[in-house]
Amino acid sequence: MTVKKLRVLLVEASPDDAGRTLAKLEQCGYAVEHLRVDNAPAMQAALAGNGRTEGGWEIVLCSHDPSGFCGLAALRLMQSEGADLPFLFLSHDLREEAITHAIQSGASDYIFKDSLSRLAPAIEHSLREARIRREHREAQLALRELSSHIQDVREQERLNIAREIHDDMGGTLTAIKLDIAWLSERLSAQNPGLAAKARGIEALVDRCIASANNISRTLRPSVLDSFGLIAAIEMEAEEFEQRTGIPCPVSHADEGAALSPDTSITLFRIFQEALTNIMKHAHASQAKVDIYNRTDGVDLIVSDNGRGLNEADRLKPRSFGLRGIQERVAHFNGDMQISSTPGHGTTVAVHIPHTAAHLPAADGSLPQRTLF
Ligand SMILES: Nc1ncnc2c1ncn2[C@@H]1O[C@H](COP(=O)(O)OP(=O)(O)O)[C@@H](O)[C@H]1O
Ligand SMILES: [Mg+2]
Repeated sequence: MTVKKLRVLLVEASPDDAGRTLAKLEQCGYAVEHLRVDNAPAMQAALAGNGRTEGGWEIVLCSHDPSGFCGLAALRLMQSEGADLPFLFLSHDLREEAITHAIQSGASDYIFKDSLSRLAPAIEHSLREARIRREHREAQLALRELSSHIQDVREQERLNIAREIHDDMGGTLTAIKLDIAWLSERLSAQNPGLAAKARGIEALVDRCIASANNISRTLRPSVLDSFGLIAAIEMEAEEFEQRTGIPCPVSHADEGAALSPDTSITLFRIFQEALTNIMKHAHASQAKVDIYNRTDGVDLIVSDNGRGLNEADRLKPRSFGLRGIQERVAHFNGDMQISSTPGHGTTVAVHIPHTAAHLPAADGSLPQRTLF
């Protein structure tokens, strides 16, 4: 029989029962490393740092009998400590309601102490489930990081292209315009036909300049980098009002720290998505935006008085706007709330905390701007 290592946290008041459990584990081929605890502080100390260090506990085997530290209290303690370990109850009590209650409370399994024949298969099963849960969590995290990385790359590319268009193309077009103006002035006396042609070309160049400015602003609003988030949001809201006829006043208060460029572009993109949704889906006659930079973080709240949305709308398979907001906010350890009453509008609220991870470094290594 192959020997399998197993690190067990044994929550057990009875030394005899503990001895029988350990003997059974040994008989089933486990080389057990264990710690027996029988009260809350000892269990809390045993769980502290579990999972952060190599060699943490792999499983909790906990007595469910009334003597000593109560089983369900131990389960709740593990849950409140945020440890996600397989948790098996062992008990002399085989009443159905006790078993059901234990499983409903989050226990992985419930084993009868007087037989212990299910102990090894139950351990294997719960370890497998825990591994699947962990892999699922890790895959989700990797996906979130990938999505966030793609967003960052996309923003960087948009910024580069916007600058190229604005500085390089914009500069060249302006030079062409000046040359043509010079030509048409000189041609007007000798050759009015050619002068009219030159003025036509000048008008075309003007259109080209306007459209280059437009493209560059759509790619990256330069006002965001020069004047900050509030200015950019006010400008966007004004354009939205002109385009749609839906009033969108902006309220803001400035109390907190300066934002990193990453946070402000993220909030700006979230705002754009919320406005696009109002325009596309809400059938609203009024929208509004509140933005508060508080000491603990930034809150952005966009509301409308439109038709509202339901759970099915949020889960539409090919809709990525709200999901994208959720992912971006999660990347900054923030949160997003959508509240809606059908027929009475929608509110999208996001909170992004000020944390060291995305605030500009104290040495100023990130370009810090006063964004409010
Ligand atoms: N402000 C809103 N008012 C009403 N419905 C909305 C609003 N915002 C989103 N929705 C609904 O939620 C769905 C998902 O939105 P979203 O994830 O942004 O994807 P998309 O806009 O591409 O459909 C929309 O298709 C729409 O049905
Ligand atoms: Mg959308």
